[in-house]
Amino acid sequence: MVPIHESNDSLNKEVSIIAGLSSSHLAEEIAKHLDTELVPAEIHIFPDGESKVKIKNPDKKKYCIVIQSIYPPIDRHLLQALMMINKCNDYHVANVYAVIPYLAYARQDRAFLEEEVITIALIAKLFEAVGTKRLITVDIHSSFALSHFTIDVQNISSIPILARYVSKKIKLNKPIVVSPDTGGIERAQEFAKILKMDMIVLKKSRDRKTGEVSIDEKLDSNIEGKDVLIVDDMISTGESIVKACLALKKNKSGKVYAICAHALLVGDAKQKLKAAGIQDIIATNSIPSEFAKADLSHIISENIINLIQTC
Ligand code: R5P
Repeated sequence: MVPIHESNDSLNKEVSIIAGLSSSHLAEEIAKHLDTELVPAEIHIFPDGESKVKIKNPDKKKYCIVIQSIYPPIDRHLLQALMMINKCNDYHVANVYAVIPYLAYARQDRAFLEEEVITIALIAKLFEAVGTKRLITVDIHSSFALSHFTIDVQNISSIPILARYVSKKIKLNKPIVVSPDTGGIERAQEFAKILKMDMIVLKKSRDRKTGEVSIDEKLDSNIEGKDVLIVDDMISTGESIVKACLALKKNKSGKVYAICAHALLVGDAKQKLKAAGIQDIIATNSIPSEFAKADLSHIISENIINLIQTC
């Protein structure tokens, strides 16, 4: 692989990529792109579930970039990320950056019911408290979630790389892009614009107490025989995509594909999506799985270089 950073001498001396357990492959690729040292964090899990984290001293490095996606087990991966950042600060590294491709808890960005905790605001405080200078994430659930951070956060869009994958690898018949809800319109619009396709939005609602999702089956457009690309930030239980797919099929759509940045696919989500008629799932490698088809390493590396050069 040819590193994307040409004058890599200084980067080499100044930067350590710290690979968290949840993102070891992605971290390896980023270190190759940047042609920098890769330091795998040593993680031990005790019988009671506690994590013990060891990181070798990134001697005289100006930047430590901790890479750890926060997918299930979410709280464990979160705490390990904080421990790694904390340790880099103990070593007096001047600039500790966190690359958190999937940032969990971003859906808890406001209190829908009075008694709810705004957890992403707490997460923001925790990253700040351990000395994170900057945070890089990918397709955070909402821009409102970002407003809880006081440190600089770069939110990278994975839409261009997902669109590139679809245009290269999937043959479609009269394709149309679908946003499963109004919250995802901008994302779906960006995707549709790149691929020069039309876009429609479904009417989704969620019961705030039970969490149950429902989607209005009455559509404003005729989608008969059209292949559909549902674009969302994430798939967790699969409930939203299943309901969307059933509504689309009821309207006699062609094949239905699920495109997302983060495919958590908890429990039997994969089987549920297949049973509902989803043709394929296309996601990024923010979470390793058979569906991690669009590689984030290049776009994240470019972002790191930009941050360092403008620092
Ligand atoms: C909701 O607003 C999000 O954008 C996703 O559509 C949702 O969180 C996915 O969750 P699930 O797969 O459990 O429906």
